[in-house]
Amino acid sequence: MSLPAHEELIREFAEKHLTGEENNDYHIRLKLDHTMRVLDNARAIIEAEKITGRTGELAVMAALYHDIGRFPQFARYRTFRDAESVSHGRMGVLALRGLDLPGGFSPAEWRLIRAAVGLHNAKDVNPRLRPPLATMVDVTRDADKLDIFTVILDYMEQPHTPGRAVLFRLKTDPTRCTPAVLNAVLSAGSCDYSLLRYEKDFLLLMTGWIFSLTYATSGRLLLERGLVARTFALLPEIPESEILKAKVLDHLHARGSANF
Ligand SMILES: [Fe+2]
Repeated sequence: MSLPAHEELIREFAEKHLTGEENNDYHIRLKLDHTMRVLDNARAIIEAEKITGRTGELAVMAALYHDIGRFPQFARYRTFRDAESVSHGRMGVLALRGLDLPGGFSPAEWRLIRAAVGLHNAKDVNPRLRPPLATMVDVTRDADKLDIFTVILDYMEQPHTPGRAVLFRLKTDPTRCTPAVLNAVLSAGSCDYSLLRYEKDFLLLMTGWIFSLTYATSGRLLLERGLVARTFALLPEIPESEILKAKVLDHLHARGSANF
């Protein structure tokens, strides 16, 4: 497998969507940078979890191509919000079908890669998926979530430009979050995107993802990179935040992601 040829392909594909207009190009570069960091995350997970052979190579490909649909999505709809446009996973499948791809993978393997791209952003993944597809999807979803923590925390910790599509125009408020979101994440570990009102709600949603990470390595990387601490530092100072933090740390400890 020639990974550099595939990296070059996705870079060229993304850059075709640059227009010279500042706002457009910001969003295209955001997703290209995200893609490359998700690739790095996936390789770290694959190595630490000892996912070997062809399954490991296919998981790398799924991670590299997972957001290829983001570029045509933003070009056409000017948003990254799937609910206001189309599923970017589905758009990625279509983009891959239309590309002249480097060799090294059989048609059946490309079908698996496209399937993983199409499933990476599903709300829930069918637990009966079989390997290698299940592994490809699990690695990609964990690697993706790890980087979204970084993107969102960087964004929220800095004064930001209104109109950026990063947080879907959620209301900026230094202290508020939506009680229904907090309760859903505390009890079920997840909540529906439609409940989100404030930027802090997105932090709660991300916190819920920690409970659904597949690999212990992913939780370990979150902790090692300081992403758990940064998330809780930004949550409202209310007793429920402390309860959630304790629950998250217990979970990471039980999963073997942390020794403390
Ligand atoms: Fe995505």
